[in-house]
Amino acid sequence: MSGGAWEAAADLVVVGSGIAGLTAALGAAELGLRVVVVTKDAADAGATTWAQGGVAVVLGDVPGDSVETHVADTITTGAGLCDAAAVASILADGPAAVTRLRARGATFDRARTGALARTREGGHSAFRVIRAGGDATGAEIERALLGAARERGVALLTGQLAVDTLRADDGGVAGLALLDDAGRAGLLRAPAVLLATGGYGQLYASTTNPATATGDGLALALRAGAPAADLEFVQFHPTVLHVPGAGGTGVRPLVTEAVRGEGGVLRDRTGARFMVGVHPLAELAPRDVVAAAITRRLAETGAECVWLDATGVEDVARRFPTVTASCRAAGIDPVREPIPVTPAAHYACGGVLTDAAGRTPVRGLYAAGEVARTGLHGANRLASNSLLEGLVVGARAAHAVAAELAVPRSLPSGAAPARVLAVADRPVVQRAMSAGAGIGRDAAGLAAASDAVEAATGPGTAGDRADVEDAALTLLAAAVLAAAGTRTETRGCHVRTDHPERDDAWQRASLIVTLDNAGRPVVSTNLPAVAA
Ligand code: SIN
Repeated sequence: MSGGAWEAAADLVVVGSGIAGLTAALGAAELGLRVVVVTKDAADAGATTWAQGGVAVVLGDVPGDSVETHVADTITTGAGLCDAAAVASILADGPAAVTRLRARGATFDRARTGALARTREGGHSAFRVIRAGGDATGAEIERALLGAARERGVALLTGQLAVDTLRADDGGVAGLALLDDAGRAGLLRAPAVLLATGGYGQLYASTTNPATATGDGLALALRAGAPAADLEFVQFHPTVLHVPGAGGTGVRPLVTEAVRGEGGVLRDRTGARFMVGVHPLAELAPRDVVAAAITRRLAETGAECVWLDATGVEDVARRFPTVTASCRAAGIDPVREPIPVTPAAHYACGGVLTDAAGRTPVRGLYAAGEVARTGLHGANRLASNSLLEGLVVGARAAHAVAAELAVPRSLPSGAAPARVLAVADRPVVQRAMSAGAGIGRDAAGLAAASDAVEAATGPGTAGDRADVEDAALTLLAAAVLAAAGTRTETRGCHVRTDHPERDDAWQRASLIVTLDNAGRPVVSTNLPAVAA
C-alpha cells in the first residue's frame, strides 16, 4: 500500500476492453507478458459492442476486389490526409487479423452459397464488409474476445477509471493511477501502458457513442506529453434515429450505413431523393459528403430530419434486427415506413499520434483503436475500417511492448502526482461544441464555443469520477476547437463554412496538438518522429 491506495504490478496495463484493447491483451498474454486490463464500467460497455456495420477486409473471395482497391478507397475517403504507408500496411495485415479473430471464436454471417456474407457501406467500391448477427457485428466480436481473454486468464479489472499516468525517471510512463467506483485510489505499476479507451463523442449533445466515450485516454496521453493529431476531424454519422419532437439529443441509436448499402435511399420531406446528383455514389458517397448534404437539406427545408426509406430492402427486419428493434421501440416500423434520421457525432478520426504498431513518442505509452491516430483515416474514416484497425494495431502493439520490455528501465515506487483539474459543466461543453464545432463551422462559431467553455471552467479534483471525465471533455473541447480554428479550409469531415473549398496548401499537413506548461492546447504542423 502507498498513501492509502491499493497497489499492484504488471508488465502491461491495457486501458479499455474493446476490440483493440482485448486484442492487444490477448497477444501480450500469448507472448508471456503479465497483462492487466482495466475498464471504467462493465467490460462490454464500450463502443465496440455497439458497432453495427462490420469489418472492412479483403479476404480474396470477392471477385474484382483487392487490397489495392481497399487502399485506394481509404485514401480517397481520407481526402488527402491519410498516411499512405500506414494505410497499405494496416490493410494488408487485415486478412491475418480476421483469421485470428475467427480462431478466437467470432462467427460471421454467411450468404446462401455458404461463403461469408458481404455488405457495402459509404465510400467502398466493392461489397467487402463482413458482418455478424445482421447488424450486431461489434457485439459478436466483443463476446468472442472477452471469452478468449477469460479463457486465457487475462486479469480484467472493471469499475476502474484511469486518472493519470505514473512517470519514470527517463520521462516515460511507468503505470497508472486509478479510481474505483467507490472513490478508492489504486496504483498499477507497469513499464508499458496501452490506451484503448475509444473516442470522445460525448463532447457533443447528440452522438452514437456510449456514455463511456469521454476521451479519458486521449486527455491522459496529452497530459503525459504525447502529441495528438487530426483532432478537427470529428466524423458525423449521417443516419441516426430521430424521433420527431423528442429533442434529438443524447445517445442516439445508429441506423447503420449498410441499410443504404442494401438499397435504402434518403428522402426529404417532399419524398424526393436528394443524394442523386450530389455524388456519383449517391447515398453511398463517403459519409462526410452524405452528412453535409443532409445538413444542407435540413437548412433548406426547415425540417427536423430527413428519412431513410428501407421499405424496399429485402427482408429488412431479419437483415437489420438491431436497427429494427430501435425503430420499433420508437414506434416506427422500417418494414412499412421510412425511418426519420439526422446526423450525429460518431467517430474521432484523430487521436494520440502513434505509428502503425501503436507506439507513441512517450516511452512506455501505446495507443490503439479510436483513441489513436495512425494515419489510416486521414480527414475522414472509411466506414468499417475502424474494427479492422483495432484488430491489426492491437496485435502489433503487443509485439511492440514485448520488444520494448527487453530493454530494462528503472521505475519509481512513489505515489501518483496530485493534480487539480480544469472542469466545465458537461451540458455546457456539449451545447457549445454542437453549436460551434458541428458539421459546418466558422471562425466566429468556434471562438464563441471556446469562450463558452472557458467561462464555464473551474477547478475539479482527481478524486471524483465525474470531474475526471468532465476534465477530459473540457481539455478535448479546447483542443478540437484550437485545431478546427487553425485549419482554414474544408477537408473531409472538417467543413468550414467561411472557407468552403479544399486548399492545396493544407494537403498532407496534419495539425499536431500538444499541451503547454499551463496545460493548454498548442497547435503546430510539424509531425514529430515516433520512437522506434
Ligand atoms: C455503420 O454501421 O454505419 C457504422 C460503421 C462504422 O462506423 O464504421
